[in-house]
Amino acid sequence: MNFISISEAIKKGKGKVAVRGWIHRKRGSNKFIFIVLRDSSDIIQCILKSEKFEKQWNDIDSLLVESSVEIEGTIKEDKRAPTGYEIDASKINIVGIAGDFPINKDVNEELLGDRRHLWLRSRKMTASMKIRSNILFALHEYMHKSGFIEIHAPSMSGAASEGGSEVFEVGYFGKKAYMTQSWQFYAENFISAVEKAYAIAPSFRAEKSKTPWHVTEFWHFELEGAWMDLKDDMDIAEKCLVYVVEKVLKECKKELEIVGADISKLKNVKSPFKRITYNEAIKKLQEKGHKIKQGDDFKSAEERSLAKYYGDKFVFVTNYPLELLKFYHGEDSKNPGTGTNFNLLAPGVGEMVDGSQREPDLNKIVKRLKKAKIDLGASDWYLDSRRYGSVPHAGFGLGIERFAAWICGFDTIKDSIPFPRTPTRFNP
Ligand code: 4AD
Ligand code: MG
Repeated sequence: MNFISISEAIKKGKGKVAVRGWIHRKRGSNKFIFIVLRDSSDIIQCILKSEKFEKQWNDIDSLLVESSVEIEGTIKEDKRAPTGYEIDASKINIVGIAGDFPINKDVNEELLGDRRHLWLRSRKMTASMKIRSNILFALHEYMHKSGFIEIHAPSMSGAASEGGSEVFEVGYFGKKAYMTQSWQFYAENFISAVEKAYAIAPSFRAEKSKTPWHVTEFWHFELEGAWMDLKDDMDIAEKCLVYVVEKVLKECKKELEIVGADISKLKNVKSPFKRITYNEAIKKLQEKGHKIKQGDDFKSAEERSLAKYYGDKFVFVTNYPLELLKFYHGEDSKNPGTGTNFNLLAPGVGEMVDGSQREPDLNKIVKRLKKAKIDLGASDWYLDSRRYGSVPHAGFGLGIERFAAWICGFDTIKDSIPFPRTPTRFNP
């Protein structure tokens, strides 16, 4: 048999075809058996008539869903079939017999987590993984087109980068190492070699917070560029997002339909995105009745509301008070006391991108570190970027799962990563 994918068979629409995949649904009588076959491209109904399969009938009849089979037959249009076409089978080869598949409508969330490796076969998860793959590809494409070089940093190192208590400790030949929280410290050094760099890699956060928008291992798209300022940084973030959304709209029509994505929301992603300052955001929230005051950090619910108040679209918030920021964010000379930083907020999700123009001055950084009582310890090498030819530079980090979940319209990022890691789940 010369196999083609189910979507190719549907495109062909008539004549002889051979397809293979897994039994998605099955029903029948002693005269007919209908198998809805699934492969990675689509599903198709196949009809098997007992008169043609006398010898194999008992074997076919006893097949359970998720068994793998090869089917040859004649395809034709049939409006009653789930995808509008049906294959009248002339041959079936049973490849792998499945036991009773432990996923059905009655399986609860916890069990779906235990059986995640099997749940990935669902059409929703398959579509989600394809969309995710297209997002990653589009980001790589955009970065290469824009002259950024992909460079990787290690996942384990002798010191925590973002700091705080949210860091995983691992044994390293009798010493302590930490799982990376961000690629940024490495990047701020190697931009003195390549100027524009990016990476897409896992970051780890030992956050106990059990929200729909946190996992302990997420995929982090980060970029860093020499000679870039805050405006350049936001411009690139904006262009990247627009590029990816347009590409996904073009390449993933079927998948977006399967996950139930809101196409008009996606078509609405256009430059320029609204840009407001922290002060304006605080005022807006107060106007709308939120109990927040100058100097407070936004709670995630407030971030989601902000995006809603600004037309249910992406919104950049800049110039947070320095006290809320990390030591590496620059200070805005035109608005002292505030940072050259931004968060991009997405409706329904909240913070999706976090970036800044960095503080290039060694003395200022050292003062900020002292004030915050931070000892860089084994990370002191980071400051070499300021000791040997410091330049103005900026960068940002975007959580792939948050972006993917926003595109798909999911209510949790766990549907945008094949095997989500949470405080209570690290298996399978
Ligand atoms: O805001 P974060 O912590 O910023 C940084 O790590 C910077 N060093 C980035 C940089 O400037 N290079 O993380 C950046 C983004 C967040 O905006 C969010 O989208 C995502 O990473 N993120 C998470 N996604 C899923 N689960 C978590 N626990 C996340 N923590 C951060
Ligand atoms: Mg952040």
